Amino acid sequence: MSVTERTYIMVKPDGVQRGIVGDIISRFEKRGFKLSALKLVHATPEHLEQHYIDLKGKPFFPGLIKYMASGPVVAMVWTGLDAVKTGRVMLGATNPLASSPGTIRGDYALAVGRNICHGSDSVENAEKEIQLWFPEGVVQYTNDNEKWVF
Ligand code: PPS
Repeated sequence: MSVTERTYIMVKPDGVQRGIVGDIISRFEKRGFKLSALKLVHATPEHLEQHYIDLKGKPFFPGLIKYMASGPVVAMVWTGLDAVKTGRVMLGATNPLASSPGTIRGDYALAVGRNICHGSDSVENAEKEIQLWFPEGVVQYTNDNEKWVF
């Protein structure tokens, strides 16, 4: 059954530098998701290590942190039906070489180490990531007058 969820979507430094932010936002809006939070952040390595804590032992971890700390990212929360799973489908496979055309990575990226955007991989991780990036809280929508969105 489809349920309303929140997901954390982040445009990585390469996506910001290449001017793809507007397109990524537009794709989520047009699909029917509601923007619940958005900010441009130049994150510290320590903050990014928290975000990627589950990957700490991976050989690519230091390079991933350096890349993500190299410039500002756009942190966003999107809300809607099956937002986590559908958000991942819209992003495409983690390795852009395996991403289908029509997905964000399939349209814009070539290398896994420069793959444009991040999307939460589970509802549990989405809630953790939203708390990490938006400790101040995000907008809460009710579905009273948004029934065709939710
Ligand atoms: S793993 O090894 O299966 O746990 O990794 P995976 O789920 O494929 O990816 C987890 C995040 O690590 C990023 N990643 C990389 N970054 C830089 N270099 C290399 N080689 C690399 N491999 C994986 C990948 O993009 C995932 O980050 P997010 O932010 O979720 O896209």
